[in-house]
Amino acid sequence: MADKISVMITEDEIEKKVCELGAQISRDYAGKCVHLICVLKGSMFFTCELAKRITIPVTIDTMSVSSYGSGTESTGRVRIVKDLDEPVQDRDVLIVEDIIDSGNTLFYLMNLLGARAPKSLKLCTLLDKPERRVTSVKVDYCGFEIPDKFVVGYGLDYAQKYRNLPFIGVVEELDPEG
Ligand code: IMP
Ligand code: MG
Repeated sequence: MADKISVMITEDEIEKKVCELGAQISRDYAGKCVHLICVLKGSMFFTCELAKRITIPVTIDTMSVSSYGSGTESTGRVRIVKDLDEPVQDRDVLIVEDIIDSGNTLFYLMNLLGARAPKSLKLCTLLDKPERRVTSVKVDYCGFEIPDKFVVGYGLDYAQKYRNLPFIGVVEELDPEG
């Protein structure tokens, strides 16, 4: 038996939303070059699709962070696994995230990049679980607010699986045979 996954947000709904976000970002940053920071690995798919829908100049860098601690609860302490390749000083930086849960990761990242003197620093997330917030972060662009459920797909994983699903789904039942 395979894990049972139900659809929460369809591929069409995501595509429509990504187009809207891309158009809004293109308007807001008109006349500028927006520097997208893809937070690996979860926001890979979202960053690529969003970048394709932005009609002004775009540059992209990647960063990988991980929360200290075990299990699914974030501890609030974050470690850089892979830093950016280029400086962000004097650039219009837009962090692109897959999901904001406790807010700890983003709070850390906003402070870290904010201290590197970017021209501007904003945050775009595909998903937001506001009920779970522990640390407050200002979200400039949000795709969907979702209830407190563990979701997978479109870059998001469960034990590294399901990133490739084209929709956002909820794992309803786990395969007892793993
Ligand atoms: P935060 O620091 O608690 O906001 O955690 C954010 C990170 O936890 C995200 O970037 C994801 O990697 C992970 N995460 C939080 N909720 C989910 C979920 O429902 N599915 C998959 N990953 C999640
Ligand atoms: Mg993430």
